[in-house]
Amino acid sequence: MSSNTVEHNRRRHDFSGVESIWLFGYGSLIYKVDFPYLEQKPASIQGWTRRFWQGSHDHRGTPEAPGRVVTLIEQPGATCKGMAYRVSPNVFEHLDVREKNGYLRFTTTLTFDDGSEAEGLVYIATEDNEAFLGRAPDAAIARQIATATGPSGANSEYLLRLADSLRALGAECTHTFSVEACLKADA
Ligand code: SIN
Repeated sequence: MSSNTVEHNRRRHDFSGVESIWLFGYGSLIYKVDFPYLEQKPASIQGWTRRFWQGSHDHRGTPEAPGRVVTLIEQPGATCKGMAYRVSPNVFEHLDVREKNGYLRFTTTLTFDDGSEAEGLVYIATEDNEAFLGRAPDAAIARQIATATGPSGANSEYLLRLADSLRALGAECTHTFSVEACLKADA
């Protein structure tokens, strides 16, 4: 799988006749909302957990010194809390470019806080993409994040803003909070 997923994503879903669709964000899509939306509400998805296992060569790092950003890893019984946006399909023209470094759109079931459900899309960087870095100890992930920076800014800002947004959502994310604690301990 090429690390540029724009063309792959364009072929993945047929939006003809679709007026709006739910998008689930669990990483920077929670706090960097640079796209129009029709509605926004907290939601969660089941069976997935957030991990800083994806390399960032284009936003929070460089090809020579990639940063680390989150993707979702399958884990039976896990719940991942994030933010859902109801968007018109043309928003994906922008988001496919933003998420091009390895993320593919997948269909998922979103559960809102009132228990209601909807089908939606989520960007996931699977382990067969070229930018996937995989598992590492939380302290090593924090050290890599501490030094990486790219066109979208410091990798540490991505981590700290995500951790703050998750707290604001009341989301439990042991992994994110542990990497954040390692980063702050080393600062
Ligand atoms: C997401 O936020 O849903 C995808 C990963 C990212 O852009 O950080």
